[in-house]
This record gives sequence, structure tokens and C-alpha cells, in this order.
Amino acid sequence: MARNGFFTGLDIGTSSIKVLVAEFISDEMNVIGVSNVPSTGVKDGIIIDIEAAAAAIKTAVEQAEEKAGITIERVNVGLPANLLQIEPTQGMIPVPSESKEIKDEDVDSVVKSALTKSITPEREVISLVPEEFIVDGFQGIRDPRGMMGIRLEMRGLIYTGPSTILHNLRKTVERAGIKVENIIISPLAMAKTVLNEGEREFGATVIDMGGGQTTVASMRAQELQYTNIYAEGGEYITKDISKVLKTSLSIAEALKYNFGRADVVEASLTETVKVDVVGSEEPVEVTERYLSEIISARVRHILDRVKQDLERGRLLDLPGGIVLIGGGAIMPGVVEVAQEIFGTTVKLHVPNQVGIRNPMFANVISLVEYVGMMSEVDVLAQNAVSGEELLRRKPIDFTGQETYLPDYNNSRVPESTVSYEQQVPQANYEPQAPDEPKQKISERVRGIFGSMFD
Ligand SMILES: Nc1ncnc2c1ncn2[C@@H]1O[C@H](COP(=O)(O)OP(=O)(O)OP(=O)(O)O)[C@@H](O)[C@H]1O
Ligand SMILES: [Mg+2]
Repeated sequence: MARNGFFTGLDIGTSSIKVLVAEFISDEMNVIGVSNVPSTGVKDGIIIDIEAAAAAIKTAVEQAEEKAGITIERVNVGLPANLLQIEPTQGMIPVPSESKEIKDEDVDSVVKSALTKSITPEREVISLVPEEFIVDGFQGIRDPRGMMGIRLEMRGLIYTGPSTILHNLRKTVERAGIKVENIIISPLAMAKTVLNEGEREFGATVIDMGGGQTTVASMRAQELQYTNIYAEGGEYITKDISKVLKTSLSIAEALKYNFGRADVVEASLTETVKVDVVGSEEPVEVTERYLSEIISARVRHILDRVKQDLERGRLLDLPGGIVLIGGGAIMPGVVEVAQEIFGTTVKLHVPNQVGIRNPMFANVISLVEYVGMMSEVDVLAQNAVSGEELLRRKPIDFTGQETYLPDYNNSRVPESTVSYEQQVPQANYEPQAPDEPKQKISERVRGIFGSMFD
């Protein structure tokens, strides 16, 4: 049962920031506003510049507000799977009330008692998801409220993440002038909402092929079994094209969008495109096949790494196979290459919400769906966690210059050299249908060069 009301999701992606506002009415999710703006200050999925990321978030929120016609005060923000830890936990309390009837406060107390587990200072609890309640020894209770009992127990999963990443995430959103309603673990939301009931039960894996990272989440028996993250995504393909062809990143990105395909054998040996390259007066002719070889090498590299880890975790033969989402999965041939590498069924998940039928939006949609579908008990548990976290959280100081995570130096290409707007349609985000054949290069050359150099 969905909760009725408005919910807002924020996906801070490496390539773009997406905001989605949806209204839930009797189990139906209606999208009422969406935005997609180029990202700044994010590298490989991690915020490396709070000011820059906050500015992009602010723009994205303003655009979504305009479309939705409402003011966004709080957002449900996705947290990537970086260094996420999942541990089982349990709590127990005596039911204190006179009537011995279990109330909201008792759920809050039992969740808090499960939080007293020792957590190292550099980690923070993001979420506690109750799996079952036990009242006076009776197991398998989903919602104990209203029941009578003397002893209330809860078993659940506790999700923790590195305090630095959580701090930066929270600070960035608050810096953009918005409150964080919930921090949602992206891979969990993805697996819960992208996979269907059968896939969640019997097992399947979602792979989110983003711009700066590739996220993997496997679910079986309705539980998240495994998550992993690889700091490699679609932007790496663009950089490869730029390096190999000695052309600018904006041309490389346009080549990828308009002529790219990941399955080399399907790429033409005769169709060519003229590319402006550094150090040559004349444009150089590049075959579709050559472009595809560059693209395929990176796609295969990413998916091979994923495969090795899934194999190690014995998750490669899950009956539901692989479901691909993310902008990087849109390119023709990615599904076929993935099918070949994983040797299992692979499908591209295209969201069915009007105006955003694009795998790029699957992540932000999943955040909103996840909060919309939270049960009352889940909300109580989440509030118990947030309350704890609020007590422990230091006040945010906006005066000093932020120090960033030590391992990342901002080697991101200056925004001015990459023009994403020309590829990212602003009015309608839906791409060409994935199974529609791309035009022949000769037919498309005018289009691409027309838009790039006019
Ligand atoms: N039609 C398309 N053809 C080829 N590549 C595409 C297409 N549409 C989007 N992409 C690529 O998808 C990537 C962006 O995908 P997405 O929006 O899912 O990433 P993100 O969420 O911003 O980044 P991340 O998840 O890595 O932090 C970019 O590299 C972009 O070039
Ligand atoms: Mg993403």
C-alpha cells in the first residue's frame, strides 16, 4: 500500500542531476515534475566539490518546482553503494504501557534498542529495515501495533555508510537550500522497484550503467544479497573516443550518442563520419566499425569486471538474469554485449512513466517509488534512525571552506568544453526507442554536424 501524498527524489549523478516530484494517490504514482541538469562537482558518483554540486542541485530543484508548480522543501536523496555495509540486527523491549497494547512509541523503542550495536565512529547508520517483529515469542509479524504483549522483539537489517560521504551528501543538499527527508540507499531502491515480484523472490541483478560509475545490486528472497560499485561508466567511453580520435569531448559525446553502438559486428565497415581532429586541417573519416571498437572495448571492460565479481559471489545464474538501467545502457548493442558476457537473459528496463521513458531516470524514479511504498512501520523505523542520527550530528557550518575526500582530485573536464545540453533533450526526455534501428551514418552526418557547428 502506497502512502498518499507528494514525494520528491534527488539523484546526484556524475553526468546529470535528476529531480522528480510525484504524487501518490491510491497506489498510483503520477509524475508531476521532473528535471535533468548537467552535473558539476561530482566525480565517479562522489561529491568532490560541495559548492559546485549544490549549485547544480539548486538549478535542478528550481526546474522541477517550475514544472510541478509546487515548492520543494525536502528531498529523498539517493546514496550510492560506496562502502555500504549491511548487518543483521535485533532489538528487544518490555512493552511498558498499562494496557500492554503495542504502540508507535514501542516500535520506535525497539528499533532504537537494535541501534545500540557498536558502530565504529567513522560509520553512520543510514537505515534500519525491519524484517519481522516478534511478540511474546510469536514470529513473522510485519506490524505489531495494536497487538497485546509483554515482550516486543524486532529483527532487521542495519545499513551503515562512511560518515564522510554521508556528511558531504547532507551538507551539499542543505547548501542548496533543501532539507534531506530521507537518505535512500540507491541500490536497495533500485532492486526493490526495478525488479518485479518474481525476480525479487527468485533472484536477479540490476546493473545501473551511469556516467561515472556502474552500480550492481543483486536481490534474492526479497533481500539485497550483494551490491558493488565500479568507478567506470559512460563518460569513460566518451573520454576513450576523444583520446583515440584526438577530438574534443563534445564531439566525442555527440559521436557516441548519434553513431555509437557497442556490438562491433553490427557496426558498418563502410559507413563513415567526418571528425574534426586536433593537428589536422582536414576532418578525418572514421568508420562506424572503428568507433564501435573503441566503445565496445570499454563496455566489455566494465561488464567483465562485474561478471567476475558476480561469479565469485555465485550470483551469475540467478533465474531473473540481468536488468540494465542508466544512461550508459541506452546505446544500441549494450544489451547484446551484456548477454554475450554474462551468458544469461539481459533486458533493458525502460520506465513506463509518461515523459521519462528513459533508463537514465530509473534511479530517481526508484527513489520516489521506494519512499512512496514505505509502510508505516518502515517510516517509524526510519524516523527512529534519523532521530538518533540528528542527536549525534554536528551542526552544519556554512562559513568555512569545505575539505573534500582525500582520494579524489577534481580532474573533471571543465564544463565549458562539454556541451551536454545539445544531446540531452530538455522538453521530452524519452530517447529513440531502443529497438529502433539507428539511421545510417550518411543520413545522420548532416544532423550531427549541423547541430554542432551551426
Ligand atoms: N542515447 C545515448 N547513447 C549513448 N550514451 C548515452 C545515451 N544517453 C545517455 N548516455 C550516457 O549515459 C551517461 C549518463 O547516464 P546517467 O544519467 O544514468 O548517469 P549519472 O546518473 O549522471 O551518473 P552516475 O550514475 O555514474 O553517477 C553519460 O555517459 C551519457 O553519455
Ligand atoms: Mg546514476
